[in-house]
Amino acid sequence: MCFFCTIHFITFSLMKIIIINGPNLNLLGKREPEVYGSKTFDSYFAELQSKFSELQLEYYQSNIEGELIDKIQEVGFSYDGVILNAAAYTHTSVGLGDVVKAINTPVVEVHISNTHKREDFRHISYISSGAKGVILGFGLKSYELAVRSFL
Ligand code: DQA
Repeated sequence: MCFFCTIHFITFSLMKIIIINGPNLNLLGKREPEVYGSKTFDSYFAELQSKFSELQLEYYQSNIEGELIDKIQEVGFSYDGVILNAAAYTHTSVGLGDVVKAINTPVVEVHISNTHKREDFRHISYISSGAKGVILGFGLKSYELAVRSFL
């Protein structure tokens, strides 16, 4: 590698952002399409990656609370951003709320639906008080807006 290419390589490492999705979001496309739309997350994520090719954009999903906490701990001291849709755990999980506060990486909370227009139990979030910001109600576009918030 030439001298200037080496300098370029060392100086400009890609910004690392991870999208973390909680329970039942693996069913996007099939699950209540009138609320969550009919696109799978895999196909939406491929679109996002090509739109933001200047970023290292990763995706992780789990239905298990402890696995989500483990992943947030793993990335939360080295990545530049976490975009978290904790799904149903948003409204129940003190553990996820705590880990968001424990890490250094800023977290943007995302929801596909406008949770404030829905049942009362969805109006409570254990994530929001530790998040840098919250984006909700724009369908899958909420994730794109969250990515843009880091740029
Ligand atoms: C959701 C809203 C939550 O209330 C629900 O439990 C989800 C998805 C959303 O993205 O709109 O699973 O987080």
